[in-house]
This record gives sequence, C-alpha cells and structure tokens, in this order.
Amino acid sequence: MAKKPSVKKATGKLGILLPGMGAVATTVIAGVHAVNAGKSQPIGSLTQMGRLRIGKRTGGTKKPLIKEVVPIQDLKKVVFGGWDLFDDNVYEAASHAQVLDQNLLDSLKRPLSKIKPMKAVFDKNYVKRLDGKHVKRGKTKMALAKQIMKDIENFKKDNKCNRVVMVWCGSTEIYIEESAVHQTVASLEKGMKENHKDIAPSMLYAYAAIKMGIPYANGAPNLSCDVPALVELARETGAPIAGKDFKTGQTLMKTILAPGLKARALGIEGWFSTNILGNRDGAVLDDPDNFKTKEVSKMGVLDQILEPELYPELYKDLYHKVRINYYPPRGDAKEGWDNIDIRGWLNYPMQIKVDFLCRDSILAAPIVLDLALFLDLAKRADMSGIQEWLSFYLKSPQAGKGLQPEHDIFKQLAKLENTLRHMVGEDLINHLGLDYYEN
Ligand SMILES: NC(=O)c1ccc[n+]([C@@H]2O[C@H](COP(=O)([O-])OP(=O)(O)OC[C@H]3O[C@@H](n4cnc5c(N)ncnc54)[C@H](O)[C@@H]3O)[C@@H](O)[C@H]2O)c1
Repeated sequence: MAKKPSVKKATGKLGILLPGMGAVATTVIAGVHAVNAGKSQPIGSLTQMGRLRIGKRTGGTKKPLIKEVVPIQDLKKVVFGGWDLFDDNVYEAASHAQVLDQNLLDSLKRPLSKIKPMKAVFDKNYVKRLDGKHVKRGKTKMALAKQIMKDIENFKKDNKCNRVVMVWCGSTEIYIEESAVHQTVASLEKGMKENHKDIAPSMLYAYAAIKMGIPYANGAPNLSCDVPALVELARETGAPIAGKDFKTGQTLMKTILAPGLKARALGIEGWFSTNILGNRDGAVLDDPDNFKTKEVSKMGVLDQILEPELYPELYKDLYHKVRINYYPPRGDAKEGWDNIDIRGWLNYPMQIKVDFLCRDSILAAPIVLDLALFLDLAKRADMSGIQEWLSFYLKSPQAGKGLQPEHDIFKQLAKLENTLRHMVGEDLINHLGLDYYEN
C-alpha cells in the first residue's frame, strides 16, 4: 500500500470567491443555498453525490461516497463572495440570468440578496461587449491586484472564514498568446507595474489569489493562471491551481464520444459542431476576438484524443469545425448540434448526429462547486501547482511543461479517482483484475 499522505481536516468555514457573478456563478450560489435548505439535489456534483470504489471486488464491492473517503468541506459551512462590474446582488443577477425558476429564487431571496459583488478589476479592451460602473480605479495593474488582495483579506475576516478558494466565472476575454512577460514571476510583476497589455484582468485575480497561497481555478478559456510565471508562483506559495474552461455541453459530449469511437478503431472523417445560445456569455462570444479564445480552447480536444499522427488511416484527414452563434431567444438554454462522419469496416461511411438541448449554467454549476471543494482539499493535502487530476472538469486542461494535456474523460476520471485514493493511502486501482483468476 502507498505511504499514507496526511490530509488536514476541513475545519471552520470555507469562502468560495467568484470573480464574475453572472449566470454560472449565481446558479452555483443559489443552488448551494437550495441544497442546504433541502429544496433540491446537487446533481452533477461528484463531491456531493459521487462514489469511489475502495479495495477489491471480492466480498461485496465497497463504494462509499467520495466525501466519506476524503475530507470534503461541509456544504453547510460554505460562504460565497465575488466581484462584478455590475452591482446587482446575487438574487437580482440570478433573476436576470433566467436560469433557475423564479419561485425557487424568490424562496431564497433573503440570503441571496445579502451577497453583493465587490467592485471589479475590469477593462473594456478585454471584453468588448460589456461596460459597467462597479469598477475599481488604480494607476497600475499591480495596484489593482493589491486591491483584490485587500478584498480577499476583508472577506475572510468579515465572514470568519478559515480558508478561501477562488474560481474565475467571469467573461471570456480576448485572445492573448503567451509571451515574454508571462515567463517568470519577476517579468510578470514588472509587467503589472508597467501596465503591460498582455496582462488581462483575469490574470490579476489569479495573481492576487496565488500570491496569497489561495487555490485558484479558471473556468474561462483566458490564459489567466496558465502561464509559467503563475505556475512558478503557485509552487512558491503552495497554491493548487487548475484551468482552463469548464467542460460542459458540446465538449463534454466530444470527450465522451471520441474515446469510444477510437477505442473501436473507427475512422472519423469530419466533426462539425455548432451551437446556438442567447445568454450574456453568448453575447460576449459574438465578438470575434473573444470567440477566438473559446475556439482555440475547443479545438485541441479531438487531436489529443485521436492522435492522427499515430493513426493516419483513421484520422489524418479529419475536418473539425466549431461554431457558436449568439441567438437571444434561447437564453441560457443552449442547443448544440454535432454531425460526425465516421468510417467503418472497408471504409464504409456512417453518420452520427447529436442534438444536445442543454442548459449551460446547469451543467457548469456543479463543476464550479467540485473545483472549489477539490482545490480546497488539495490545499489541505499540501498539493501545490497544477492539479492535473482536475482536468476532468476542464475543456483545455493545464498540464506541466512538456506534457500533453489529457482530454479523454475516462482517463481523466481514472486519474481523479486514483488521486483521491492516493491522498488517503488507499490502493490505486488499475483494473487489471488477473489476480481474481489466479489460484
Ligand atoms: N456555462 C457554461 O457552460 C460555460 C462553459 C465553459 C466556460 N464558461 C465560461 O464561464 C464564464 C461565465 O459564464 P456565464 O454564462 O456565467 O457568463 P455571464 O456573462 O453570465 O457572467 C460573466 C460575468 O462576469 C462579469 N465579468 C466580466 N469581466 C469581469 C471582471 N474582469 N471582473 C469581474 N467580473 C467580470 C460579467 O459582468 C458577468 O456578470 C464565461 O467566461 C464562460 O465562457 C461557461
């Protein structure tokens, strides 16, 4: 059995801080309040409903709840805060987002109205379709990051939190390539003092959290914490980090289907994905510079899973196209179509059509919760830097230098489960199972 690492208990209150209090953030906050009030179930959340096999399959398989195996923060002892450039409280923002039933929101009006966003660090140059007045002023990006750190300290004190974590739920910013300023902590800090244009607001929130040793996850495709400087800082301060881009609708389906088709050595000639959605996220992504960030995040998935260089006969000529169309009538109820042209025995063509009538924020909310609670767990297990085991939740997972990110959802799940077993010194499971048949 592996040496038992020590994981500290989850004592006291945990603060979950969300930069960006729009559809996703308010759906997770209202959802946790609804669950705590016994009004609903946390469906989609592994930390709340998932089980983990422990030990052998003989004598009745043991599959306790994950939260019985590792010390996950009690949902009743979680408090939420965040930042936004609009000053609506969570009740108002959730009502505006129109994701959850208004009757449910009305029944939670008192606690939700009390959660008010702090002033945002925002710059319209990075999110062209938004403009708000609830914004901080500061001469340099470093000065703004320090204001975020002050906010975090105050939040922790005011809410009597033992620990805090941060999950970026803000808008997708314009596409920025990693450059020299992102390479080291020193170059990043210098760039922040000099207002370097390649340092977007989401990176300032990430810097503030990581500098304070606070776990940070990024739910948008922005670079944010996915640069060498912040990985280095995270190792220095002991902050676990994970990014980027929540894996919700279409990419979730892609990373479920593609490994299955490849497992049977079926060829794929084309994969056309298109979406319609009408929420604020859709409006932001309607700008080509912001869409580019999302497109890059969505495109990497198939190549990594299918490995066309190793299977040229099956995937060399795969034509992969992704489109997102802003269509206001649908609001948060996104519809994603996939047309997959596949090839079977003797190259005979077949087609698969997927029409996923999903709800964006309903799929994203449990991801936010799990990322927050698992990152807090990682911190208590003294794990710092990139948490590859959380790739399971991310469209464009961050990986160590020189490593290919893993996109196959089944491998991601195996990694997540084995990491949890490892944390508490349980045997890892590799599904070989030959020992059951040996005399
Ligand atoms: N819902 C999904 O399925 C899904 C999946 C993957 C990624 N995402 C990403 O999650 C993010 C949130 O999605 P959403 O549907 O809640 O969008 P949303 O537009 O409803 O909410 C985003 C919020 O962030 C705020 N914001 C923007 N810049 C900010 C800043 N610098 N500081 C503080 N607040 C800021 C906006 O005012 C807005 O209220 C987006 O980046 C989206 O691309 C969502």
